[in-house]
Amino acid sequence: MVLSDRLQTIAGMTDPCTSVTDIGTDHGYLPIWLIEQGVCRHAVAADVRKGPLATAKQNCLEHGIGPDRIKTVLSDGLKEISRDDTNPDDTLIIAGMGGETIVDILSAEPEKAHSFGRFLFSPHTKQEELRRYLGSAGYKITDERYLIDAGKLYVVMKAVNGEDACATDTDYRFGPFIEKATEDRKIYDILLKRYNALSGMLEGAGLPEKRVAEIEEEIRSYKEVLKL
Ligand SMILES: C[S@@+](CC[C@H](N)C(=O)[O-])C[C@H]1O[C@@H](n2cnc3c(N)ncnc32)[C@H](O)[C@@H]1O
Repeated sequence: MVLSDRLQTIAGMTDPCTSVTDIGTDHGYLPIWLIEQGVCRHAVAADVRKGPLATAKQNCLEHGIGPDRIKTVLSDGLKEISRDDTNPDDTLIIAGMGGETIVDILSAEPEKAHSFGRFLFSPHTKQEELRRYLGSAGYKITDERYLIDAGKLYVVMKAVNGEDACATDTDYRFGPFIEKATEDRKIYDILLKRYNALSGMLEGAGLPEKRVAEIEEEIRSYKEVLKL
């Protein structure tokens, strides 16, 4: 199975473990790849919608993987996920949805969420909101990778149970590993484009004072990260 660059980055950041639970699995490609490559022994592929789950089940069958290796579960977030049998290296993956949805999923079942030992999150939006939640709820971000897939910038966060790794507003906005990411010229250029767009917004008149202050604060973070 060939994964997209984004899914391949998530897969590459998954350490060998006993079990992976993929919430919002959709097609199930990620758990199938992880099982096929021997990264984990068991996986749970969960989705809130029946259609994607049926597709995931079908894809597992087509890859010769039965429910003894990948269990498919219809579940809103972690609600229907059983955590009776836990290992410290159990990995929770939540990718391809908004940061606010990831926060909703984790905060709806905080104890269950913390029963996993390792975490990978790839929010499509509201990255800052997710980092602030993780920091306040006992998760420590241990690594982040930015990547470009089909021209779009994505981030993958790796975390464990622990103390907040972010110290400044810039850490929350871009992640504590942004300096490494901006060494990649393409990533730097996408962030520079966003910085220019933000600066342009200030040139137009009529924005409320509060919004101007927010944009100025964001611009300050961009300047710091881009070393402008
Ligand atoms: C865009 S797909 C992402 C699929 C895959 N995780 C990826 O990163 O490519 C988002 C999936 O998340 C599922 N989803 C959204 N909210 C969910 C929730 N609260 N619980 C479980 N699945 C959810 C959707 O049904 C959809 O299949």
